[in-house]
Amino acid sequence: MRIDVYATQCGVADREIKDRVVVVVDVLRATSVVVTAINNRCRDIIPVIEIEEAVNMSKNYDREAVLLAGERNAKKIDGFDLSNSPLEYTQDVIEGKTIILTTTNGTRAIKNCSDAKDIFIGSMLNARAVAEAITKSGEDVTIICAGTEGRFSLDDIVASGLIIHEVINGGADVELNDLGLVCRELYSVYGDNVHDILKDTYHYNQLLEAGFKEDIDYCLRKNIIDKVPRYIDGVIKL
Ligand code: MLT
Repeated sequence: MRIDVYATQCGVADREIKDRVVVVVDVLRATSVVVTAINNRCRDIIPVIEIEEAVNMSKNYDREAVLLAGERNAKKIDGFDLSNSPLEYTQDVIEGKTIILTTTNGTRAIKNCSDAKDIFIGSMLNARAVAEAITKSGEDVTIICAGTEGRFSLDDIVASGLIIHEVINGGADVELNDLGLVCRELYSVYGDNVHDILKDTYHYNQLLEAGFKEDIDYCLRKNIIDKVPRYIDGVIKL
């Protein structure tokens, strides 16, 4: 199988999305939130780009059935129910609810892939399950890293390396683009010391300074969730 990795969502050619399986990765923290929320049995998640769009959409639901969620500058949005901290998405809070989620980079990256054949939501948390799903699909795969504010973010590259590593461990023959090769090599050297390689990076430190160390520790855990959320017709479900 072929896996092409892109460092940000910007400038990915349509042909790399259309008719391919796409995995969107935003480890810190949007896709880790989505994977956690699906694992804790929310009904579904609707990713939106703008805050106003999220608020307007929520008016179509019974107040009890919907949660407004997301962040700007890593902080909870005024008037929203949940921030972008995966640790808030516990089963008692979210079970059975529709979550309307808007984040700076992650939800935009998910929506930008709408033309793909199939869209999976990936993270370190569910890397092995994603690897199994893409291998089973038998399709060529594009991994799109959300990045941070249009820039490359090393946490997403490390997670892509973990997904590739899991695909290879599963016995598949993999052909990679150059960034895919970097992900594979980086992960094989630093995979056991993920915090070491990330500790000087921008987004890691932005979250650390904002008091989200527990979120970072959680988002960097590997293969603790065996579910793969899918984005279909504007909605993320299991
Ligand atoms: C995003 O989607 O931009 C991120 O998940 C930001 C964050 O860490 O809250």
